[in-house]
Amino acid sequence: MSQPNPNERIQVDTSDEDSVCDADSIADSTLSINSSVRDYYYENGRRYHAYRQGLYPLPNDEEEQDRLAFIHHLFRLLIGGDLYRAPITRDRRPERILDIGTGTGVWALEMAEYFPDAEIVGTDLSPIQPNFAPPNCRFFVDDAESDWAFTQDEAFDYIHVRALCGGIADWKRFLQQAYSHLKPGGWVEVQEYDAWVWSDDGTHEQAVKLQEWQKLLDSSSLMFGRRMNIAPALAGWMRESGYANVTDDIYKCPVGSWPKNPRLKEIGRVGKVTLYDAIEPYTLALWTRVLGYSSQEAQEWVDQVRAELLNTSLHTHVMFHYVYAQRPVDR
Ligand SMILES: C[S@@+](CC[C@H](N)C(=O)[O-])C[C@H]1O[C@@H](n2cnc3c(N)ncnc32)[C@H](O)[C@@H]1O
Repeated sequence: MSQPNPNERIQVDTSDEDSVCDADSIADSTLSINSSVRDYYYENGRRYHAYRQGLYPLPNDEEEQDRLAFIHHLFRLLIGGDLYRAPITRDRRPERILDIGTGTGVWALEMAEYFPDAEIVGTDLSPIQPNFAPPNCRFFVDDAESDWAFTQDEAFDYIHVRALCGGIADWKRFLQQAYSHLKPGGWVEVQEYDAWVWSDDGTHEQAVKLQEWQKLLDSSSLMFGRRMNIAPALAGWMRESGYANVTDDIYKCPVGSWPKNPRLKEIGRVGKVTLYDAIEPYTLALWTRVLGYSSQEAQEWVDQVRAELLNTSLHTHVMFHYVYAQRPVDR
């Protein structure tokens, strides 16, 4: 995959009609096991994690898991099908890999297949991972903001984090903890999207409700104590935390099938479904718990923002950051 150029304008395809419904549905399933960490909490018609209840404002139900399947596809599509950007095989093949906030565990499971000799560990607040994982992959429930229960002998070659925005209050503390659980020379990688929509041609300004929504998302997540829009700050926090070789590969992800380029058109289709599906889970808890809206009012916001996203004259995009850095070999 060549180096990204986020400043490059994407050419608009003026010949095509846009659609939110043209990507294949990819459904993941989960199995349930009886245990207290498997209790769930319901609010506004959606299901949330019960362990450390209230910490993370997005749901964990089947609908959310379907969204995560699209997210996984999108993060891979943007970087040519790869699972990561860090040069983790440059010096040696990784032996131990940690995926924090693993969600459905799809990334961890694919890494386990890709590196069959490595041990992959996935942790999350929600026990929504399948229990038919291969022997080199295991999952457990843990809060990434607590002290991690790994010993020095269990240090990792590579720690991966994806779409964890909204789940961490103090990212510098989090990155410092990752540093201390890396082997010298090991890599951390955080893949996050901006919680903000742009366009090259100013068409994003036509989506007035969406503009308002993203400002409220930023302010409410700040009030909640776990900001959503943190991707642009990650590289700086890594440098301040002592990491070396910090790199922020930024990819412009079109939202909609408006680009002329066929590859970007395909990415845009998935991008649009993903953003459309994200509006409800990002809105409900923050609008009701933090901003004081009723459930019905929050749902009206969702409907209005979604209606704007169906406007095919918008040429919007979101920036995706793949930020990776190394624990120095001598420290
Ligand atoms: C948007 S999902 C992304 C899942 C997965 N990384 C992926 O890319 O498919 C975010 C996940 O982070 C988890 N999460 C949020 N805050 C967390 C925390 N403090 N500790 C552990 N997991 C957390 C959520 O439960 C959720 O499964």
